[in-house]
Amino acid sequence: MKTPFTEQVGIEVPLICGAMYPCSNPELVAAASEAGAIGIIQPLSLVYVHGYDFRDGLKKIRSLTQKPVGINILVEKSTKIYEHRMREWLEIALEEGVRFVVTALGNPEWVVEKVHAKGGVVYHDVTERKWAEKALSKGVDGLICVNNRAGGHAGKLSPEALYQDLKDLKVPLICAGGVGDENTFTEMIKIGYAGVQMGTRFIATEECHEKHNYKEAIVKAQEDDIVLTNRVTGIPLSVIKTPYVEAVGTDVGPVTRFLLQHRLTKHFMRLIIQVLSARKFKQTTLKGGSTKDYWQAGKSCQGIRSIESVSEIIDRFKKSLGNNPELR
Ligand SMILES: Cc1cc2nc3c(=O)[nH]c(=O)nc-3n(C[C@H](O)[C@H](O)[C@H](O)COP(=O)(O)O)c2cc1C
Repeated sequence: MKTPFTEQVGIEVPLICGAMYPCSNPELVAAASEAGAIGIIQPLSLVYVHGYDFRDGLKKIRSLTQKPVGINILVEKSTKIYEHRMREWLEIALEEGVRFVVTALGNPEWVVEKVHAKGGVVYHDVTERKWAEKALSKGVDGLICVNNRAGGHAGKLSPEALYQDLKDLKVPLICAGGVGDENTFTEMIKIGYAGVQMGTRFIATEECHEKHNYKEAIVKAQEDDIVLTNRVTGIPLSVIKTPYVEAVGTDVGPVTRFLLQHRLTKHFMRLIIQVLSARKFKQTTLKGGSTKDYWQAGKSCQGIRSIESVSEIIDRFKKSLGNNPELR
């Protein structure tokens, strides 16, 4: 099936395996692309969690697939500490032939300049119209529309409401959040989205290197088991309500909350919380986990009922488009 998005990035199925810190290991990214969708590299995850030199990590992915892959470049102020790294990684990614970039959380202008110079495309994560208009004024080619059902940092609007809010902007819109099964996937395409980005569904796969009990927890979870906590990154993050999450609560203490809300301290405070969490995610991802883990997942867990291979999932999604007369 062709959509403006599949045409722009040169793939077969309008589906993205979204960047995930810490879950995006090279085998997962490559498997999604090889099966006809597109996998997105999360560079912090590739280097700091999975232990690759960045260029070697890209070469590893290239040894597994020759098809297009993308990269996630974070341009948020609180990730400024990583900015020189992000610039370096983007240069290397472009040298290695990556032509699809997903920016998140800030001003994507410098990324757009570099990527357009190489003939690539940039899509920006947005949760509402004001951010979409800002990103479009900086020259992005499409929007990843993060809704209120998404894993990671969720938006505020439902998938349908967000589409209605953005549909006149005349760029391809990708639905991010809440899609775990092929029926919801085809529904989103029928609404008018040019593609879908999934995260949680791809964690519960054979190729993802996360721990088995995390994958099982996704398979067992219902959408009511997903709660938002600001204890992991300083901004609300979707996690499974485990006994640990219930015990520690989902809100930071009053002093941290004050610092997170204050204009002058919020970015610094987020950075501190993120650095502490990053260390913990690295430990639990590589060392087998504990009962004190945060298991990130979105409400899409409702449609996920088994651990499967990436190609099984993407083949099934592809067939569901083909079986749908309205979409042929
Ligand atoms: C564990 C996890 C980590 C994520 N990390 C990132 C990230 O580093 N950068 C990003 O742009 N999005 C991140 N996301 C968002 C995903 O790329 C995707 O948009 C989202 O998972 C879609 O919602 P779903 O989980 O319901 O499929 C993350 C999501 C999850 C579940």
